[in-house]
Amino acid sequence: LPQYTITTHCFHLLLIILSIAKYFNTKGRYEEVKPYLIEDVLAVNRSILQPPSAQCQEIHLTAIIRHGTRYPTTKNIKEMQKLYTIVMQNASGEESWLREIQTQWTMWYTEDMDGRLVQKGVNELKHLAVRLSKLFPSLISEEKLRGGLFKFITSSKHRCVNSTLSFKAGLTELWAIKDMKFDHEVNDALMRFFDKCARFVQEVDNNPSALVEINNFKTGPEMRRVQKKIADRLRVPYSYITEDIAEAAFYLCAYEFAIKAVNSPWCQLFDEDDAKVMEYASDLREFWKRGYGYDINSKSSCILFHDVFRRLDKAASENKSGQQVTEAVTVQVGHADTLLPLLTLLGFFNDSQALTSTHYPPTDQQVSMPLYDDVKEHYRELLQGCDFENECQLFNSTKERFPFNISNIGYYLKGTRQLSNRSM
Ligand SMILES: *[C@@H]1O[C@H](CO)[C@@H](O)[C@H](O)[C@H]1NC(C)=O
Ligand SMILES: *[C@@H]1O[C@H](CO)[C@@H](O)[C@H](O)[C@H]1NC(C)=O
Ligand SMILES: *[C@@H]1O[C@H](CO)[C@@H](O)[C@H](O)[C@H]1NC(C)=O
Ligand SMILES: *[C@@H]1O[C@H](CO)[C@@H](O)[C@H](O)[C@H]1NC(C)=O
Ligand SMILES: *[C@@H]1O[C@H](CO)[C@@H](O)[C@H](O)[C@H]1NC(C)=O
Ligand SMILES: *[C@@H]1O[C@H](CO)[C@@H](O)[C@H](O)[C@H]1NC(C)=O
Ligand SMILES: *[C@@H]1O[C@H](CO)[C@@H](O)[C@H](O)[C@H]1NC(C)=O
Repeated sequence: LPQYTITTHCFHLLLIILSIAKYFNTKGRYEEVKPYLIEDVLAVNRSILQPPSAQCQEIHLTAIIRHGTRYPTTKNIKEMQKLYTIVMQNASGEESWLREIQTQWTMWYTEDMDGRLVQKGVNELKHLAVRLSKLFPSLISEEKLRGGLFKFITSSKHRCVNSTLSFKAGLTELWAIKDMKFDHEVNDALMRFFDKCARFVQEVDNNPSALVEINNFKTGPEMRRVQKKIADRLRVPYSYITEDIAEAAFYLCAYEFAIKAVNSPWCQLFDEDDAKVMEYASDLREFWKRGYGYDINSKSSCILFHDVFRRLDKAASENKSGQQVTEAVTVQVGHADTLLPLLTLLGFFNDSQALTSTHYPPTDQQVSMPLYDDVKEHYRELLQGCDFENECQLFNSTKERFPFNISNIGYYLKGTRQLSNRSM
């Protein structure tokens, strides 16, 4: 089991290497994309924040954040328990990882954990708050927090509420604020729009024919091969390892790594080829249910997109008219399902081809880089045209559309040139 101890200037660092960790997709550790945080959890890199011009100054910050690391949901835990029972009752073999599961590993996941934030998730949000305060010291400041210039908005889900509380605790602990409490607003219309958008729910989320590529892959030859390999490794009948059980095994490996930072014996059920297949299955799900697969996936986030731009507009007009900006910092906590449609609406990571069940293995795609003028035009259209109520209703009425006042668009899109160069 590859573990390395690295000694740096003043402390020891235990690195657990798990080669398949990069295939865990939305169940991956945040450290996988920001490895420097393993060494220093409060490290920030200011070089990504060079303003596009010297006159450009920060007057408002909106942070849209996913909740921290959490337990599996009840549905996943039930499948994990089924798999565990199969391994305990029916698996045979002499491999050390199998004996480790059977004699040392205990089934410690219980249904009441139901996707709640873990302690590590609490710490992640506290650390994120401190890092943001280092990146934007003029905005994320004690003075502005005490002055009531912060707004916190969260999804009602416990892991998001808890993440919001943790973010606030990060700031109040940083500045040792004990004499004040700060409210947050629960707003599912903004942070769980994917549940509220009737057209999305009916036409995509609950529509088997819209999800045909996902289902074809899940029942296709690549996935069947992964299931058979798991069954062979456990020496159990093939019928025992359904697609859901294979997924539960993959989740067990991922969650043990994310929550406990261990390379768990469950990970031995997958080699790298298997992990790539599992990853592709979840990529298909994200593509067709949250990403570019259907227009309504991203349009369902128009309400959040407008909310953000309305706030930018307000801050800009307040500053222009010589008033103090009333909302200097907005922190909004939601889900992967909140961020993916919004990133899609903004045009990020737009592959040129649709993901399909038959194009496995995927070829590396050229992700095109939109030009600033195209981005500006795209956002202009969204500000004028993309309206949650119109997009999300099942039947269009002749109701007059309500156009967004875009007179300030050039003003706050200046920063987008930089954004599009870096991230798209
Ligand atoms: C900070 O980010 C820049 C640009 O992404 C990169 O070139 C640089 O190496 C980073 N600096 C540190 C200390 O990580
Ligand atoms: C799996 O274990 C259960 C419980 O011991 C037993 O009833 C069942 O027959 C076993 N299945 C196989 C294929 O051995
Ligand atoms: C937040 O999560 C932590 C870690 O699971 C837990 O100890 C704490 O009770 C939770 N707090 C709230 C307010 O739910
Ligand atoms: C408007 O923003 C500029 C740039 O940050 C700042 O210098 C100025 O004081 C702001 N005006 C008001 C009224 O806050
Ligand atoms: C994504 O890319 C496709 C194909 O290149 C293009 O037609 C579409 O307009 C793009 N979508 C966005 C939101 O940029
Ligand atoms: C309703 O109107 C919107 C905006 O014009 C359009 O995108 C959507 O496809 C229409 N919905 C239906 C069900 O026709
Ligand atoms: C749009 O905003 C501008 C500047 O803030 C204002 O002068 C104009 O009256 C607004 N237009 C409408 C239709 O509200």
